[in-house]
This record gives sequence, structure tokens and C-alpha cells, in this order.
Amino acid sequence: MIRLAHRAAGMIGFLTILVFWTSTVLSEAFGTLSTVAAVKLAIPWGFLVLIPALAVAGATGFRMAGASTSPRILRKKQRIPFIAANGILILIPAAFYLAWLASQGAFGTAFYVVQGIELIAGAVNLTLMGLNIRDGMRMTGRLAAA
Ligand code: HEM
Repeated sequence: MIRLAHRAAGMIGFLTILVFWTSTVLSEAFGTLSTVAAVKLAIPWGFLVLIPALAVAGATGFRMAGASTSPRILRKKQRIPFIAANGILILIPAAFYLAWLASQGAFGTAFYVVQGIELIAGAVNLTLMGLNIRDGMRMTGRLAAA
């Protein structure tokens, strides 16, 4: 049960950020300003899925790991503060600020600078979470060990 919750929460968290990231890039590359605004206004609602998913993935991960000193588990643990800090200090404030600017139709320099920072921070979190998925799958044998 706890394994299933961990696996599902980890994958949901990863996929939610992937959807935020790709819908942002696609709307800004090919969409109209109203499509961009719709995406920016929808993303904060996605936090209602993302934040609980990450909390469950982290809590169940630490619970299953117990006092294990396996290098893969230690690496997974060490990534969590970076994932959380990136989310709390950059991704969440940036998403609310961008949604506010989009709601005002303010697509100026501030919008694109913060958007660039948000895309970089999002890519960093996708990478760190992807590494946690890879290490998880190596531990369960779903992925061949390196
Ligand atoms: C965002 C963070 C995380 C993500 C996305 C994630 C993802 C995953 C996934 C997808 C699996 C399942 C692999 C499979 O079914 O083959 C897994 C397994 C595992 N993860 Fe995580 N994980 C995260 C954080 C953590 C943390 C912080 C720990 C421990 C401190 C941890 C410990 C484990 C363990 C022990 C397993 C193996 C479970 C088993 O034997 O079935 N994970 N992880």
C-alpha cells in the first residue's frame, strides 16, 4: 500500500510539473496571448494536485527508507531539500506572479524574465524528480542497475 502510494504520488508530481512546463512552452511558442494567459491562470490550480502529491511522495519515501544507509536512498533523500526549496522559493511565487501579470494583460519584460526563471527552475525539478524515479526503479529492479 505504502509502495503504491509512493509510486503513484511520485509519478503524479513529476507528470504535473511536466504538463505545466510543456503547456507553458507550447502556448508561448505557438499560442495567442489569450492562450498564454489561460495556461498561466490554470497553473496555480494545479498546485492543488502537485503539492499534496509531493508531500505524499516525500513522506512515504522517508517512511519506507527508515534508517537505511543505501547510497541510492541517501541520494534520493539529499535531492528532497533542493526540490522543496526550488518549489517554495521559485516555482510557486513565480507561478502566482505570472498568473497575476497575465490577468492584467502585462506581457512585458518582467513577464518574460520571470517566465524564463520559472522554466529553468521547473527543468531543474523535473531532472531531480526524474533521478529519484530512476533510482526508485533501480531499487525495485524495474530498471537495470547502472
Ligand atoms: C519527488 C520525490 C520522489 C519521487 C518522484 C520518487 C519516485 C519513486 C518511484 C516512481 C518509485 C517506484 C519504482 C518502481 O515501482 O519500480 C520509487 C521507489 C522508492 N522510493 Fe522514491 N521517489 C521520491 C522520493 C523518495 C524519497 C525521499 C525516498 C527515501 C528517503 C524514497 C524511497 C524510495 C524507496 C525505498 C523505493 C522502493 C520501494 C519499493 O521497494 O517498492 N523515494 N520512488
